[in-house]
Amino acid sequence: MNNKTQLGPSTIMFPYPTVLVGTMINGKPNFMTASWVGIACSTPPAISVAIRPERYTYKGVVENQSFSINVPNSKLAKLTDFCGIYSGRDNDKTKLFRIFYGKLNNVPMIEECPLNLECKVIHTIEVGSHTVFIGEIMETHANEDCLTNGKPDIKKIDPIIYATGTRQYHKVGEEIGRAYKIGSKD
Ligand SMILES: Cc1cc2nc3c(=O)[nH]c(=O)nc-3n(C[C@H](O)[C@H](O)[C@H](O)COP(=O)(O)O)c2cc1C
Repeated sequence: MNNKTQLGPSTIMFPYPTVLVGTMINGKPNFMTASWVGIACSTPPAISVAIRPERYTYKGVVENQSFSINVPNSKLAKLTDFCGIYSGRDNDKTKLFRIFYGKLNNVPMIEECPLNLECKVIHTIEVGSHTVFIGEIMETHANEDCLTNGKPDIKKIDPIIYATGTRQYHKVGEEIGRAYKIGSKD
């Protein structure tokens, strides 16, 4: 016997990131909130994002074979939620943010977000309700004031953590130890 309750097959997993996926659709930038996102590979650097075909963003990713991942900070929580409620199909989301472009053509990114990844689609996997796009990360843009010793610092970036199930947004908490160190035998 243990103290587990079986919840059945679910998508519950903690923590979820909260990002804004940027694409160009019909010549206009659009941004969609996504939590089903994760790093997929280091060589080449790649990231996965699961998108329902009904999303306007899906059309942009399929047509351009590219997208951006923009990491908002906690101050952008309201606007991020807005982009997760309203579709670019009937709501113009172009005026919400200052937009910039990097190495890839047609990949809009958000200046206010402290971290931005430019991605080129290298795999498309139709899983069921969602299609997973694996994007090779072609460039990483980070705000200089969010770096510590040249490396992006989670506290300064202040990303939004999404708690699925209870549908809450959270901030990052305290550091509890150094990775590859506190578990080390030496
Ligand atoms: C916190 C949060 C996370 C979300 N994560 C995803 C996701 O990972 N994949 C997805 O297809 N939709 C996700 N959505 C829903 C889309 O963001 C939403 O349908 C949005 O309006 C789509 O915008 P678009 O039609 O302009 O692409 C999420 C919404 C919220 C609020």
